Amino acid sequence: MVKAAIVGATGIVGQQFIVALKNHPWIEIAALAASERSAGRSYKKAITDASSGALRWFCEEPPVEEVMEMPVQNAIELDISTIDIVFSAIESEQAKILEPKFAVAKPVISTASAFRYDEDVPILIPGINSEHAKLLQIQRKSRGWKGFITPIPNCTTAGLAITLKPIYEAFGLNAVIMTSMQAMSGAGRSSGVLGLDILDNVIPYIPGEEEKVQRETQKILGNFEEGSIRPARFNISCTCTRVNVREGHTESVFASTQKACEVEDIARAMRKFVGSSGETELPSAPKHMIIVHEDPFRPQPRLDRHMEDGMATTVGRIRKDTALKNGTKYLLVSHNTKMGAAKGAVLVAELLIRDGYIS
Ligand SMILES: NC(=O)c1ccc[n+]([C@@H]2O[C@H](COP(=O)([O-])OP(=O)(O)OC[C@H]3O[C@@H](n4cnc5c(N)ncnc54)[C@H](OP(=O)(O)O)[C@@H]3O)[C@@H](O)[C@H]2O)c1
Repeated sequence: MVKAAIVGATGIVGQQFIVALKNHPWIEIAALAASERSAGRSYKKAITDASSGALRWFCEEPPVEEVMEMPVQNAIELDISTIDIVFSAIESEQAKILEPKFAVAKPVISTASAFRYDEDVPILIPGINSEHAKLLQIQRKSRGWKGFITPIPNCTTAGLAITLKPIYEAFGLNAVIMTSMQAMSGAGRSSGVLGLDILDNVIPYIPGEEEKVQRETQKILGNFEEGSIRPARFNISCTCTRVNVREGHTESVFASTQKACEVEDIARAMRKFVGSSGETELPSAPKHMIIVHEDPFRPQPRLDRHMEDGMATTVGRIRKDTALKNGTKYLLVSHNTKMGAAKGAVLVAELLIRDGYIS
């Protein structure tokens, strides 16, 4: 079994890592770490609110009893000599310090944005751009590390890049315009979104999010050529908002394709899309990366975020758009803390284990 440490184990994404690794056939949880605040406590104590005594467990699955008595270590002091892989679920500021420290010796798979835009760092979605993993050898060499850092995309990028991939392959893309309606859990536990700010409301701005989604989508759909990633060359413009939904990001996408195509052509390309070879066999992979609905009242976060245990992107309302040249528009729902975070990172680990990057 591959021994994993989860850094940021007490947060929303950290808890999803614990759920994703429960009974995992290849990977076991060997260490949990978080900030100084949680260090030295049992996991259960660390996620129990000190004043009310309430367990602060955010997953829809029941708390994982197997980890409740495990000690939480201080991430900065974490000894990874017996660990094979580090899953990082901390904010970018801390990731900038901690992830390189771990990567000197061990592979780090991160949900943070700290290194996503570095030239020698891929942003992996297995089945979409698995070949970008080759960049990890170059990263190891150039940084002199035994390990590496490989982040997954921002949770809003994931569903967008997955659904654009079959369109881009079959018809090419001139331009993409996307507006997101993002779930509250996407903001994390601290600082998070205050109930009274989001109740009966839509927050029209998420700092830094639009630039991240634009840049990452082009990088993920880019080509790996001569040792680097050449970003895909289409125009992309995003508006990212926060809505009163617990989990599951909804996105309204407009795409102008290079070749003319009909709604049925887009739906067919999405339905038959299985990603690159063999990825659907990985333990956490969805059997269908994209599920296309005919019902015009789908997708909805409450009804669709659980599809394939949160790993499928659901699409509906595919229509022609007459404002754009060769225009098509659709809506998607993607689970932000599963495919968009922890389980998506576990899927990356499975790909890298299968392909010999992690042993
Ligand atoms: N939420 C999502 O939907 C989502 C999706 C994709 C990516 N992400 C990214 O995933 C990361 C984690 O997000 P989250 O939503 O899980 O945040 P969160 O709920 O606020 O959790 C943050 C975690 O970081 C730990 N932490 C704080 N300061 C630390 C330090 N100095 N050293 C070590 N650990 C420290 C916290 O531990 P304590 O409990 O000890 O404070 C906690 O475990 C972020 O980079 C976020 O952008 C989030």
